[in-house]
Amino acid sequence: MRSLLLLATLAVALGLPAIPGFTCRPGQACWPSALEWKIFNKTIGGNLHATVPIGAPCFPSSPFYNITTCNTIKANYKDASFRQSFSGNGLEYTNFESCGNFSCLPSVYGPQTANCSLGRLSSYFVKVQHRLHVAATVAFATLHNIRLVIRNTGHDYLGRSSSANSLALITQDLKAIQIVEKFKAFNCPAADGSNVGIIGAGVVSSEAAAYFNSKGFAVAAGSCPSVGTAGGFGQTAGHGLYARGYGLMVDLAVEFDVMTVEGQFLTINRCNNPDLFWAMRGGGGSSYAILLNYKFKLIPLQPIAMYVFRATFTAPASKKASDSPHIRPFVTRIAQNELRWAANNMSGSNWVGLNIVETYDILPVGRDPLAVIRNLTASYRQYMLSLPNITVVEDQYKVFSSQAEFANATSEVLGRRGSVGVSPILSSRLVPSTHFKNDANISLLVDAILAGMDSTAALGGTLSVTIHKTTPANNADSIGATSTNPGWRNANWFVIMSNGWVQGLPDSYIQMVTANVRSAIRPLIALTATSKDKYGLTYGNEADYQEENWKEVFFGGHYEKLLAVKRKYDPLNVLNCWRCVGFIGEMDPMYSCFSGKGATLSDSGVTATR
Ligand SMILES: Cc1cc2nc3c(=O)[nH]c(=O)nc-3n(C[C@H](O)[C@H](O)[C@H](O)COP(=O)(O)OP(=O)(O)OC[C@H]3O[C@@H](n4cnc5c(N)ncnc54)[C@H](O)[C@@H]3O)c2cc1C
Ligand SMILES: *[C@@H]1O[C@H](CO)[C@@H](O)[C@H](O)[C@H]1NC(C)=O
Ligand SMILES: *[C@@H]1O[C@H](CO)[C@@H](O)[C@H](O)[C@H]1NC(C)=O
Ligand SMILES: *[C@@H]1O[C@H](CO)[C@@H](O)[C@H](O)[C@H]1NC(C)=O
Ligand SMILES: *[C@@H]1O[C@H](CO)[C@@H](O)[C@H](O)[C@H]1NC(C)=O
Ligand SMILES: *[C@@H]1O[C@H](CO)[C@@H](O)[C@H](O)[C@H]1NC(C)=O
Ligand SMILES: *[C@@H]1O[C@H](CO)[C@@H](O)[C@H](O)[C@H]1NC(C)=O
Ligand SMILES: *[C@@H]1O[C@H](CO)[C@@H](O)[C@H](O)[C@H]1NC(C)=O
Ligand SMILES: *[C@@H]1O[C@H](CO)[C@@H](O)[C@H](O)[C@H]1NC(C)=O
Ligand SMILES: *[C@@H]1O[C@H](CO)[C@@H](O)[C@H](O)[C@H]1NC(C)=O
Repeated sequence: MRSLLLLATLAVALGLPAIPGFTCRPGQACWPSALEWKIFNKTIGGNLHATVPIGAPCFPSSPFYNITTCNTIKANYKDASFRQSFSGNGLEYTNFESCGNFSCLPSVYGPQTANCSLGRLSSYFVKVQHRLHVAATVAFATLHNIRLVIRNTGHDYLGRSSSANSLALITQDLKAIQIVEKFKAFNCPAADGSNVGIIGAGVVSSEAAAYFNSKGFAVAAGSCPSVGTAGGFGQTAGHGLYARGYGLMVDLAVEFDVMTVEGQFLTINRCNNPDLFWAMRGGGGSSYAILLNYKFKLIPLQPIAMYVFRATFTAPASKKASDSPHIRPFVTRIAQNELRWAANNMSGSNWVGLNIVETYDILPVGRDPLAVIRNLTASYRQYMLSLPNITVVEDQYKVFSSQAEFANATSEVLGRRGSVGVSPILSSRLVPSTHFKNDANISLLVDAILAGMDSTAALGGTLSVTIHKTTPANNADSIGATSTNPGWRNANWFVIMSNGWVQGLPDSYIQMVTANVRSAIRPLIALTATSKDKYGLTYGNEADYQEENWKEVFFGGHYEKLLAVKRKYDPLNVLNCWRCVGFIGEMDPMYSCFSGKGATLSDSGVTATR
């Protein structure tokens, strides 16, 4: 390892390509022999597995063909937890399981693909049970020049948890979870504190909520029960219903246990490796080191109040949102209320479509949140109910005693608003507070959202507009303790435009959807651009995977400083991911499935059938 580092440093100094390039593929002489894989498997306790795509049992040509298993898979295909707990490295989204036309999709959303191939999935994966498995896997991949990919839950919207011909390190089994009442940080009295939660890298949102709620605490986890907490979520931002009262997940972090790419186990906090701690508190997953344990401040569990308003109406015949008598008043009204709502810790999400609006306003703090949320939303509710020609589908105040109960009650919403086993495309922007300060600015903001929707008339009204009110509006991080996109700090809304496709649709449809989702965000980019942030800013975890100015847009001025930390801890780029800090570029074979650039498909060996 050390000598490899020396070689790499020398190569960089001489202007040669980095060594190694992690380009070894199955079938090449460099690829480990069956015996070498077997020995490696022994050193990691038998946790090495050859990847089997979820759909394999549905293909008569596959050695895993089994109609009973296939039917079980089809019945559970749209279940996020089923996909990620599948024994063979499943992901949530099929575009990131596919490489061009190579994939293994059973007939659920569309016709079954011709053959079952690995597509973009790794050749082998390691299901990590212990930190030593991480060190051994990184060393094995490095020595054999094989690309490594880290996968936790496989939720990533930019395809960062899969790469063809790679060795995947799956962190999802690291489920340790505990609460420490009197937390002593490693060699760092300033980071000591009470009621610190400690979770292994694989703990998902629902598991964290269930455990900590039972001890009287809440956790700043994501809205989706199956999203990770310590993985890409907790290393990039982690926005959710507690962001207004307590900040993002990264704001609550106090200490991490990590494994470096050199196999060194480190406990990092504001006193020990503070540069690495800062970078992993917002600078993105899979870039600096492998996270093993995430230690963070817990939130006292208080009742969670929610106001739900849902209505439908007739879509304008023109398919243009600006022609609807309902959409402008709705978006205007929530924008007018936003600063007061945020100041009072109210969060939540809204959805807007050509014939539908939905509001989920959430107040998870305070002694009597139901009374407060009724007060905060009273005039908004009256206004919405007074709009002519709408059908009110739901108009309800509710209160929950725990996050688990809240999640249970809202799971239907998530099921309705987001599907898995499909191929999503997103575009997004954070909207700073200045755009909510007076009616003239609000009007410009509403114009931008409606103009974006109008530009997608070709989608026939299927563009989904999500307005998340989950920004840390009351948490400035004025000391710069985190490296998350600074755009979060003065933002009030996080707006996502999205759509997608299912298997079997022609390339022309995919291109149309993609172009439309991209055009939908342009007016908001123009509106939020400033002389400092020329293209506006967004959350790199929920964004367009082809975001052009991603260094500026995802990292908001932190890029160079983060890159210096990356170079210090991972000079060989053992860790890499799409549009992450230190991204090695679209032409690298690691990314050949993204755009057809780089290595060609026939080059990459992804046709292997399982
Ligand atoms: C349905 C849905 C709902 C969502 N809701 C929210 C939300 O409410 N709030 C929010 O902030 N985000 C949300 N997201 C976005 C979410 O933050 C990202 O999808 C994130 O990448 C998920 O992280 P993961 O670890 O679960 O997923 P993965 O896809 O497994 O990993 C994501 C990235 O992190 C890396 N990584 C994972 N584990 C580690 C580790 N231990 N060490 C180093 N690198 C690691 C991976 O290599 C990959 O690059 C949502 C996403 C989906 C699909
Ligand atoms: C690794 O070893 C385990 C336990 O013996 C075995 O079940 C598994 O199939 C092996 N993996 C590979 C790729 O052979
Ligand atoms: C198919 O899978 C089922 C369920 O796991 C199993 O009981 C059955 O034996 C398998 N059939 C064959 C032919 O392998
Ligand atoms: C997939 O196959 C179709 C039909 O054979 C072809 O038109 C299309 O270009 C292919 N797509 C890719 C990305 O190779
Ligand atoms: C599927 O596999 C068969 C047999 O290997 C091959 O002839 C055919 O070209 C493959 N089809 C596609 C679309 O890859
Ligand atoms: C918002 O929540 C925080 C954390 O509970 C609290 O300190 C603050 O007083 C709250 N603000 C309002 C206006 O309720
Ligand atoms: C909300 O609370 C404020 C301050 O207590 C009060 O003045 C106002 O009348 C209340 N509004 C409603 C609709 O209850
Ligand atoms: C409501 O719908 C009816 C019938 O479509 C229409 O005549 C009327 O003008 C609408 N009212 C408003 C205020 O838009
Ligand atoms: C979850 O919701 C279902 C129905 O919506 C209900 O039957 C069940 O009791 C709820 N569980 C919890 C833990 O709240
Ligand atoms: C209105 O928005 C512009 C930028 O679009 C900004 O310069 C101005 O300060 C905003 N007005 C207020 C009162 O914040």
